[in-house]
Amino acid sequence: MTITNKNIFILTGAGISSESGIKTFREKDGLWDNHKIEEVCTIEAFQKNPDKVNRFYNERKISFNRSEISPNKGHIALFELEKICKKDFLIVTQNIDSLHEKAGSKNLLHMHGSLESLYCMYCGNKIAYDFDLDSSYVCFKCKKPGNVRVDVVWFGEQPKYLDQIYKFLDKTEVFISIGTSNNVYPAAGFIDYILSRKEKILLYEFNLEETAKSGLFTESFKGYASETLPNFLELVSNGIY
Ligand code: APR
Repeated sequence: MTITNKNIFILTGAGISSESGIKTFREKDGLWDNHKIEEVCTIEAFQKNPDKVNRFYNERKISFNRSEISPNKGHIALFELEKICKKDFLIVTQNIDSLHEKAGSKNLLHMHGSLESLYCMYCGNKIAYDFDLDSSYVCFKCKKPGNVRVDVVWFGEQPKYLDQIYKFLDKTEVFISIGTSNNVYPAAGFIDYILSRKEKILLYEFNLEETAKSGLFTESFKGYASETLPNFLELVSNGIY
């Protein structure tokens, strides 16, 4: 058997980037231990105190851009897997960093947005940026201040690319979940959606620990993604998976 002859869907979460030096959300001392979701990650928070929200994301962007932050062996293994996959391949990431693209991955969707861009809530203008955002920033298209925000999906908002994602899930033959605690929907429900198709689909999970959905997978690979993914890639290359 080789999974490279099948349509492969990869879901990634914060765990794949943690070994690159980016904090996860729900582990001990994770981002949600030190910040309140309702103060930095909702439209209501932005309307009430835009600069608190902007500061949170400015700091995150600065931390992503630190010189020591680079793709790890897990990201690179996924790029290698994409290269040897003969059918369709898609990575859907919940992460807002750019480590998958830096590793070379091409078929990639950021379902929770990314910190590469801002957009204007008034006119929809999308702006690539490399500066600290503050609420006095004026959209250069509509010339209105106060409406420009990070291009990140906040709690209560609809994730991006869902039509494309579910279309791919309908033809997925191998579903691989990496470094996500499976707490946030709809991503956490992708496996339920796939199982509702009642077809034989290979389901692999890579995580340091058991998650809420571990029992649904064909096989779980416990350990650091920077080790388990290159090992898996080697097994795939040798036709074991
Ligand atoms: N290798 C594999 N798994 C790891 C590693 C690692 N090196 N390090 C951590 N993990 C696992 C943890 O065991 C945990 O299950 O990664 C998972 C991280 O979970 P969360 O912090 O909940 O991150 P994630 O699932 O991506 O969160 C989803 O929540 O707040 C939102 O929008 C935010 O996109 C995020 C969403």
